Parts: sequence; structure tokens; C-alpha cells
Amino acid sequence: MSMRKTLIFFVNDQKFELENVDPDLTLVSFLRSKGLTGAKVGCLEGVCGSCTVVIGKWNHNHKNAKYISANACLLPIFWLDLCFVITVEGIGNPEKMHPVQERLSRGHGSQCGYCSPGFVMAMYALLRNNPYPEENEIRQALKGNLCRCTGYRPIIEAFNTFSSKNKSICTGCPGQVNGQCCQIKSSPSDFVKDGLTDIYEQGLTKWKDFQKYDPTQELVFPPELIQTIEKLQNEEIFSLQTKHTTIYCPKTLKYVKNILQKLSTGSKIYHVSSGQALRFDLAKSKNTDPSVWISYNKCEEMRRVELKEEQILIGAALSLSEVREALARSEQKEKLKNLIWLLDEYSSIHVGNVATWTGSLLSAFGDFPALALALNLKIYIQNFDTDEISILKVGNDFFDTYKTKITGNTIITHAVIDLKEVEVTRAAKFDPELRSLINLVEVECTNGKNRIALNGFEKFPILVENVKIDDLEKELKKLGIPEEKLEGLPSLVNMAKQEKKKEEGHFETLQLFQPIDNKDGHYGSVGRPLAHQYADRHTTGDARYVEDLKIPDLLHLALVLSEEAHAEIVNVDTSEALKLKGVVAYVDINDIPTKGTNVPGTHPMSIPPEDTPIFADKLVISYGQTIGAIIAETPEIARKAAKLVKVEYKKLKPIVTIQDAVEAKSYFTVEPIVLKQGEDPDDKFKDCAHVVEGKVYLQGQQHAYMEPQSAICVPEESGEWTIHTATQSGANAQLHAAVILGIGKHKINVRVKRLGGGFGGKAGTQCGRARNVALIAANKLKRPVSCVLTRYEDMVNTGGRHPALGYYKLGCDTSGKLIAGKFEAYVNGGYSQDCTLWVLGAVVATGDGTFHVPNIKYTGYACKTNTASNTAMRGFGQPQAIFIMEYAMDKLARKAGILPEKMRELNHAVEGQTRIDGHTILNDVLSKCWEECKKLADYKKLRVEIDEFNQNSTTRKRGLAMTASRFGLLHGKTFEQAFVLVQIYLDGTVGISIGGAEMGQGLNIKCLQVASQALNLPIDKITMIEVATDKTANVPVTGGSQGADIHGHAIKKACDQLMSKIGPLRKELQEKSWEDVVAEAYNRCIPLSAGVHGQFPREEVGGPSDGALYHTTGAVCTVVEIDITTGEHWLKSVDIVMDTGNSLNPAIDIGQIEGGFMQMYGHMTMEQVLWDDQGRLMTDSFRNYRLPTVSHVPDNFRVMLLKNPNTYPGAVYSSKGIGEPPLLLGASAFFAVKDAISSLAKNWPEEAYINNIEPPLTPYKVRKACDELKK
Ligand SMILES: Cc1cc2nc3c(=O)[nH]c(=O)nc-3n(C[C@H](O)[C@H](O)[C@H](O)COP(=O)(O)OP(=O)(O)OC[C@H]3O[C@@H](n4cnc5c(N)ncnc54)[C@H](O)[C@@H]3O)c2cc1C
Ligand code: FES
Ligand code: FES
Repeated sequence: MSMRKTLIFFVNDQKFELENVDPDLTLVSFLRSKGLTGAKVGCLEGVCGSCTVVIGKWNHNHKNAKYISANACLLPIFWLDLCFVITVEGIGNPEKMHPVQERLSRGHGSQCGYCSPGFVMAMYALLRNNPYPEENEIRQALKGNLCRCTGYRPIIEAFNTFSSKNKSICTGCPGQVNGQCCQIKSSPSDFVKDGLTDIYEQGLTKWKDFQKYDPTQELVFPPELIQTIEKLQNEEIFSLQTKHTTIYCPKTLKYVKNILQKLSTGSKIYHVSSGQALRFDLAKSKNTDPSVWISYNKCEEMRRVELKEEQILIGAALSLSEVREALARSEQKEKLKNLIWLLDEYSSIHVGNVATWTGSLLSAFGDFPALALALNLKIYIQNFDTDEISILKVGNDFFDTYKTKITGNTIITHAVIDLKEVEVTRAAKFDPELRSLINLVEVECTNGKNRIALNGFEKFPILVENVKIDDLEKELKKLGIPEEKLEGLPSLVNMAKQEKKKEEGHFETLQLFQPIDNKDGHYGSVGRPLAHQYADRHTTGDARYVEDLKIPDLLHLALVLSEEAHAEIVNVDTSEALKLKGVVAYVDINDIPTKGTNVPGTHPMSIPPEDTPIFADKLVISYGQTIGAIIAETPEIARKAAKLVKVEYKKLKPIVTIQDAVEAKSYFTVEPIVLKQGEDPDDKFKDCAHVVEGKVYLQGQQHAYMEPQSAICVPEESGEWTIHTATQSGANAQLHAAVILGIGKHKINVRVKRLGGGFGGKAGTQCGRARNVALIAANKLKRPVSCVLTRYEDMVNTGGRHPALGYYKLGCDTSGKLIAGKFEAYVNGGYSQDCTLWVLGAVVATGDGTFHVPNIKYTGYACKTNTASNTAMRGFGQPQAIFIMEYAMDKLARKAGILPEKMRELNHAVEGQTRIDGHTILNDVLSKCWEECKKLADYKKLRVEIDEFNQNSTTRKRGLAMTASRFGLLHGKTFEQAFVLVQIYLDGTVGISIGGAEMGQGLNIKCLQVASQALNLPIDKITMIEVATDKTANVPVTGGSQGADIHGHAIKKACDQLMSKIGPLRKELQEKSWEDVVAEAYNRCIPLSAGVHGQFPREEVGGPSDGALYHTTGAVCTVVEIDITTGEHWLKSVDIVMDTGNSLNPAIDIGQIEGGFMQMYGHMTMEQVLWDDQGRLMTDSFRNYRLPTVSHVPDNFRVMLLKNPNTYPGAVYSSKGIGEPPLLLGASAFFAVKDAISSLAKNWPEEAYINNIEPPLTPYKVRKACDELKK
């Protein structure tokens, strides 16, 4: 028996031949250990796609290669034998980018950049097989990739340029549009009306300047590998062996017996196909026993496909994508179209390209089991102990019993789909509660009977025979399935009944902004839509995040987390964990230095001052709270060992919900926060013609930044430290590190190159969850320690947006003008204070939303519960405030018989009026944005069209909502200062250091633009240097949408200071180059560096000493369509107009607007944070926490920066902050869906308010509401 024990594969142009490699090592760990850090690790579970790579496989028979995308975080390394792995680094670099990288980068498709390599590789894989894809194929290829920043619009737009069909944008000009280059625009498109375009630039990117895509120039399959493959044709077994795991990959079944005979009795044997699922499960388990895997991944018999007229044979080692391809090639394609549809609905192409149907069948989870059951799939089974071959049909008892039949050395070799007697008539896949899937497959048999298989209702799939689909519910109840499990069934049935049509790609976007004239050859770039400073590095995998840094002698840390929400810790047993090879130590509260502290936030200068402990102290007060940590040689070992730490608890009753906290009077303060304006509203409701009253709950939201919390703490000489960390506040991180160790801040240098998203989750205390523990470990071991949380750790250990329960009473007169409002908001702060009181303060202070309520009282309570500690998140209290207010407005409008948008328009507060917080509205043009938005959306026409549509459509309904946002800036006092260092080097280049963190929001490019403007220098001569607290000390947290304001202001001041001396010299030496001027300045000892403290000049610009100096405002008109039979919804169009002053960078601002909108859209419609009654987080991974994907992007997404905006001289180059304000507009999606539902009411709009519907708008809730109104 010939056996090769060397794993051979290529990564890009490098050959690897490995022996004794752990077969369950994942590809992503391997790549990263080789310095190929382009593939990012966002989730480690195949959902986010940030680790996507392309795998080439050589087909010996056809003498060609096939390329697939795959998740490197799931792929066990043995699977790659004789493969060609292409990573993002392999296809291009910042100097020579691949067209996919270039278009994503220059097309503004990258913000924080963490997802970008994954998107690049997903698109690259598509192009390798299909150089001119259709638009819907592009969206399909990207559905396994998540982006939290961009809102996907620019990603789709950039990649649609490769589409053969797209006639509206340049495809790199392989062909021309209407005989012209597509950049020569024909007349302005339909939606540009009323003179809106006269001064506008359309689109942010000039695609015509891009390199053409030439598929013939792609990387070829390595000839050396082809030769090796050809040489190895007679090889019998490939094997990898380590002390812990041995894996065999036989070429044919006949060798399996030989392998089994060689194994010692008692070996734990796993028979696997791809091994992807098994590796994943073992990595999560506490099991550390040695094992043997026999993988059929290379087994020729098990990779067979045979297409006969009425029979299709599929080998057991085929992936779900390969099965789909086989079915699509079959002559019976038409008969199989529902089946193919179901396979197309597979959640991610990257997973389906590797995951096998056999693994899926035997997991009993998902689509394939239902499909096999309906088809009565005939599977062939081989028993190697008895040499018996048997056939088993997947029938009703299969899933209960297969474990007894396919056990030991018994395997599935293949299956036969027999079409003689059945036709797949219906299929459906649905996620009614947006947490887990249910599916249905119906086949009709030639004997006139039918079979319906369902999965997701019970532990195993269910089969019912000869039952009409409309009688399913009755039948399932008869089978004893409880009613509550059948809630999603009607939607599933309705979806099954619908004809499955191929979705046609339809995607139109428009970005409108005022172009800037290049006056007098000035180099200044303020106002230009320049790409993000790091975009090229993001899309080529060159950008390094904390986890990518190479630090010698590095150890890795994994957290030991509480499995109870509230309990005394009786005992912690680390003995098993410490025995694991590679484990170095365990740390907990006892390792805090004597002069240090476990609660760094109690330092009075902490931002915020608060009480979150690093380690639990005898008591756990939240599920997922840190108890201790294991430090080991690799992250994998540390994580495995952390699971082996046994904690004994004495359970106590947890407080989980806001209601629990209210009952237990569990608050962070004794007194609530109260604000009021005008008279007591209780005295005013009697004057109102209409009053609504009620309560609404807005659940929490995860930040879901793609880069989890991470830090590396490096002890340096003489008690000094370098800390690399993903934080929005280097200064706060430095302070906390100092107080934890009990040393001076001057000993600590915190460095922040970039963040893979922050959204407030890395602003204050939370980013310490990785850093502080790593610091304590590094201090104990005197070695560098890295801690990068897994997605699970991140989701359970850190909090997010505060859930809020709002009570409202709102009244208006007969015309709809508001008279009085009374509100109470309860926010769930979680187990520690963090910035809960500040967030609550913001809820109350912005409780009137965008409206003027003459008599209003708002009371806020901060609840303390045994859930993760909630914190800052984009919008900081305002999303909760605006939602509660808008909810009440919507209801009041419908009660008053006024269209909600009319009611809103009537009641918007205007410049000069006072808000509930007592501050006057300054520099604000909300009404102008609203008017322009109506024009951009063609509101009047839209309303008429929607009414017509609703009258003519029975199952689909449309709805519209217009809402606005008003966001006051700046935030006052210490938050308005910054320190920057601008240094001109002797070659004329300029380096700028700021304390503000680049996390995707484009702060750095905006700062570069300010500097280039102020210095009158080309931007490529200037560089933003990473944040380092040894250069820029005591800088406030980057957040609150004011980064560009405060840092830009300080940079301008520093540049002006430098130019006050260099400027006259430049004039004097007019003929000389900038470089010569700098050299001369140096010779004359003119300062070439300026360290400047900038504080916002409130007095100078006549602003108030407190409160917002200006407001960023915007308006949106959102149209949705719902299917009333299933409860699904789709965004049809989104039109946004925002005032960003004189935008520093329209591309960045529009990116923030689109990304912000989609983030709130997710909050309103699909994202949910749920606990069980014991306080355990149920939505603890990207598998059960749904985020918007490419498929949620509206068909028409249009953003316009307000023409003739409100410019405010105090702000840097009259710009306005933008990060958070547009997020608030995403609430419109909720009200648009509600509007669509309301169209079912008999007397719309008078009686059409729905009382109980709350976010997120799960399909189940929407269908239920529709059903109620139809009654
Ligand atoms: C991110 C993600 C998304 C997913 N989305 C979906 C989805 O949308 N729809 C869906 O239906 N599923 C979905 N799945 C589940 C996925 O399809 C299964 O996990 C996968 O098919 C398992 O196949 P595998 O090749 O990885 O199994 P393997 O790891 O090879 O095997 C798993 C187990 O199956 C058994 N086994 C495998 N092959 C054989 C054999 N030939 N004979 C006997 N026993 C065998 C063994 O017990 C083995 O331990 C998803 C999974 C992930 C990770
Ligand atoms: S899919 Fe691999 S890290 Fe998320
Ligand atoms: S740019 Fe996509 S996650 Fe940040």
C-alpha cells in the first residue's frame, strides 16, 4: 500500500510540503502563521466571509483547473492536499492591484477594510469561473460576506462594473454603451428633477480610468503542481500523522479495509467527507482524546456523478455546490428546478463549495435532510467490518435510527435520486424569527400521492404523506407538534406555493454632491471624493490589524467566561487545562499587582468613570463575564484549555429584563434623570384633540464590528510597556493600563494603527476586555501576550446598544400640531455602569427627536441587570430617543387621520427654537433637507404609485415613510480639544500624528485633505502616522461624529502656525520647489514641526459656552414592499438628503450616510439580542444574530449632499460631522413596513395603526400583523 505522508500544496507562488502537521489545523491559522494575514478572522464559523480564499483544484481527466471560494477559517488543512490556494496577497498589492481590488478600493467599497479581502476573493472566485457574470450572480457570490461599515452599496456598484449586462456604468470599457464610453452621461436619469442636477456631480467614481479586466492574465495553476499531481496518479493513500490525530485519505474504497486493519483496537475513528463540520465541532468541544480520521475527500468512487435519464447518482464526497451543478446539468433540469432553487438558497457559496451533502444529511440540520426525506433518497452503505453493502432509504424513521445503522466502520458511499416516480413540486426555506431556519420540500409521486418533508420544527426532519399542503398545520398538530413551534409554518407554506423565479438583478444608485473647483492651481484637496487613506492596503490585504502584528516570543490568551448570569463562584479547577501541552499559565483576579486595581474605571479621569471589573470577584454577575484566562503557545491551545477550566457555581436568581429590574428596583442611580419644557403636559392633554398612549420596547443591538476586541501587550525594558490595541481611545487605554499595574502613564505607550470597525464598542471600557487581561498576563509572565476575542467571546462578554422600554403619551390639536408629550424611558445598562448614565442622559436630552413639543416631560431610568454591560454605540442614546418619539408620532398621526409624513413636517422644530435640553437650535437646515428629499424621491408621485400598487396587488403591499434626523455637535468641554503633531521632514514630506483613531470613518483622509489644503501641498506628500500616546497625549475618545472637527481644526491650526513662517519664505523663493523651500527653512532655523493643542473656538465664532454649536440634519424617504403571505420585506428605494456643510470629502460622507442607514435598518428589522430566562445570551454568534447582507440593499439607493448647505464658519473648512446623524434615518424602514401593513386596514389611514408591532420586524411579526388586519 503506497502511502504519502507529506502534505503538498501551493499558496500563491509558494510551494509547501509539510509533514506531521496537525490535520485539523485550519487554513487560516496556517496562512497567518506564514505571515499571510490578508485573510481576516471575523467569526471563525463560516458566516462573515472575511477569511475567504480561492482554491484551485486540478482535474486530471479534463486537464483543467476549477476554482472555488472557501472559508479559510473552516477548512482543515489536510483538505488542501494538491490544491492551489490563492489569497488576497497573491492577486495584487498596493503597487499593482488586481482589477477587483482596484475597483473596490477606488470605488469607496472599503471603510474599516476588515471585510475587504474577503469580498475581493469572493468576487475573484466568481470571475475565475465566469468572467462576465450577471448582476444577480454577483450578489449571489457575495452573500457569504458581511460588511458592517459600508452598507454594501459601493461594494455592489464596484463589482457590478464587471457585469456583462450593466449598461449604466463602465465595465472597464470592454464594450461601449450606446456607442459611447459610459462615462459620457446621457440626460440625467428619471429621478433627478426640479433642477437638482444643475450644480451636482453624479457618482463618486469615474470608472473609465480603471484598468480593464482581462481574464487571460489571471494566475495559472502552478505547472509544478500539475506535474506532481500527474506523477501521483497511482498513489493509494495520503496520510498525515501527529501524536494527537492521524488522518487517512484513501484514493479508492479498497484501501479503507487495509487502513482499518492497521489501526489499534480502541482507536477513536471518524469517517468524514470534507471533515469541515467535524473539525468545527471538535474545536468547540472539550474533547481532547486522540483520534483517527478517514476522509473520503479524495475517494474516486465517492466523487462520482452519473446522470441517467431518470436517475442521478451522487457520490458521498461531493459538496453541495457540486450536487447543485450536477442537477443543473441533468436533462431533468426542469423537473428539478425547485430542488436547484433550494440549493441556491444555501446560506453561503463559500461553505457550500466544501460542505458535503453527506455531512449535511447526517447532521439532520438544514436543507438537504428535508430534501432527502421528501425524495425518499436511496443511500448506499458499506460496512467495512462485515463487507456488507446495503441500501437505506431516507424515510420517516431514518433520522431516529441512522446513528445505529451508519455507525462504527459503516459509511455512505453514494446516493441515487430516482426521478421515475417523483417530481419536486415545491420547496421553501424560511427564517420566521430570524434565528433559525425552517424548510419544506414537497414531491408528487406518480401514484398521485405526495410527500412533504419539513425541517427545523423538531429535532429531526418530519415527513408527512398524502396531505394537502394547506392541511399541513392540522396534520402536524395531530403529530403532537406544539402550536408555538408552528408559528412560522404559514409563511413557509405560502412561500412554497409561490413560483420560484430567477431574480433579475436591478440596482441603481446615485450619489449627488457639489464638485470643487481647483482654484489657481491650489493643491488643496478639501471637498474632493478621495478614497479612504488605506483603501488600497485594505483590498490587497496589506493593511495590518492588531492580530496581524508579528511580535517575537508572543503568547496567546483565551478567556474563561461565566456560564451563569448570577452566581457565587464556589471553586475554579484549572488542573485539566494546565495539563494540556502548550499551556503556560492561568490568570485571574489574584494576579493583579498589589498597587494595581481590578476596576480601572474608578479612576476619576477615566472616560467614563465607572465600575466594570476586569475579573469576577467571588461572584459572577453576568453570563459571559470574565473569570480568568488561559495563556498558551497558540490561540487554539489557549481556547481549548479555557474550555477545560471547571467552575463550580452556587446559582442566584438573575435580573434579566428591564421589567425584572423595575420590580427589583435595581437601578444605577436613586433618582431618575428628568428634563422638561413648557408646562406640565398632564395639564395640557385635556386641550388635545387626539392623544395616544402606550409603550414600546426597542431591543439591544450588537456593534458587530468585524474585527473583534484585540490587544497585544509587550513588556519593554525597565518596566515600560508597548500596547497595540484596537481602541477608539488611546489615552483612556493608557490610563487604565497604568492604574491596573499601579505605575505611571509615562511608562506606557499605546499604539493604534487602525480598527476593523468600532461603532462605539471600542470607545471606553469594553476594549479593555481583551487588553486588560492580556496586560495582567504579560505582567505575570514577563512575555508579550496577545488576546483576540473569538466572535462568541466578544458577543457574550461585551455589551452593545442599550435596550430601551419607552412609555409615551402624546397629544395634538385637530390640525396635527403637537401640544403635549410625556415620556419615560428605561434603559438596560447591564451588570456595570460603563457609560449608561451618559447614554440615558442623551436619550432624555434628545427625547423630543426632531420635533417641537411645546409642553414635554421626559424621565429616564438606568436599570442594572445581570446581562452584559451595555455601552456607547453609534448614535449614543439618540436611536432609542428618536425611535420612541417617532413611534408615538406615527401612531398619533394615524389616529388623527393625517399621513405620518405630513404630521412630521408640521411639527419639525426649526432653527432658533429650544429643545428639551434647554439649548437653542443653531446652524440647522432640517426643513430644507426635508423639502429637497421630497423632490429627490418624487414623494408626491411615489405616494400615488404606492396607492395604485396596493390596490392592484393582493399579496404584495408597499409602504412609505419619511423621517428626519437632527444631531447636535460638538459635545462640549473636554471633548472638544485635541493635540496634533505636524512635522515637515527635510525631503519636504509631512508626517501628522493625531490621537484620533482611524476605524473606517475616513478620519485620516479627511485630516490629510485639511493638511493639504492648509499647507497647499499635494496629498501624497503627507502621511497620517498611527496613534501613539507617546506623541499625542490626553486626546479625547474618537467618537461622537466630531473626529474630523476637532482633529481637523487642530491640524489646520498647526499647519497655519508652520505656514506663518514658511509661507513668506515660499513667496520669497517663488521659483524654488517646495523641497528647496523646506531645506532653506531648515538652514534658517525656521520651525518645521508644530505640536498644537486645538480647542474649539466657541467664543471666537460667537457660539454658546455649552450645547450644540451646529446640527447635522438630514431627511429620508424610504419605500418598502412586503409579502403579506410570508412577512418578508424588501427595501425598494431609499432617498436621503443630508446637510454636511461644505463636505470635506463627499465620498466619505456619503459612505457614512449609506453605512449608517443600513446599520439602523438592521436594528429595526433583523438584529436582536435575546436572553433566556436564566440570563444566558441566546444570540451569541453570527449564526443566530442576523446582520444585513448584500441582499438587503435597496434596489435604488440615492444620496444627495444638500445643495447650498448650511455652512458654519467655526467648523473646519465649514464642514459638519457625519458619523452618527444618518444612522437615525434607518428608523424609516420600520415605519415604511408599518405603513405597508397598514394599507390592509379598511379605513386607511384613520384606523390603520398597529399597536403592538416592535422591532425587529421579523417575518413572523409582519405576517401576523397582516393577518390581524385582514380579519
Ligand atoms: C456557516 C455555515 C452555513 C451553513 N449553512 C447551511 C445551509 O444554509 N443549509 C444547510 O442545509 N446546511 C448548512 N450548513 C451545514 C453544512 O451543510 C453541514 O455542516 C455540512 O454539510 C457538513 O458537511 P461536511 O462535509 O463538512 O461534513 P464532515 O465534517 O465531513 O462530516 C460530518 C459528520 O458526518 C458524518 N459523515 C460524513 N461523511 C460521511 C460518510 N460518507 N459516511 C458516514 N458518515 C459520514 C460523520 O459523522 C462526520 O463526523 C452550514 C454550515 C455552516 C458552517
Ligand atoms: S467566515 Fe471565516 S472568519 Fe468569518
Ligand atoms: S469595511 Fe466592511 S466591515 Fe468595515
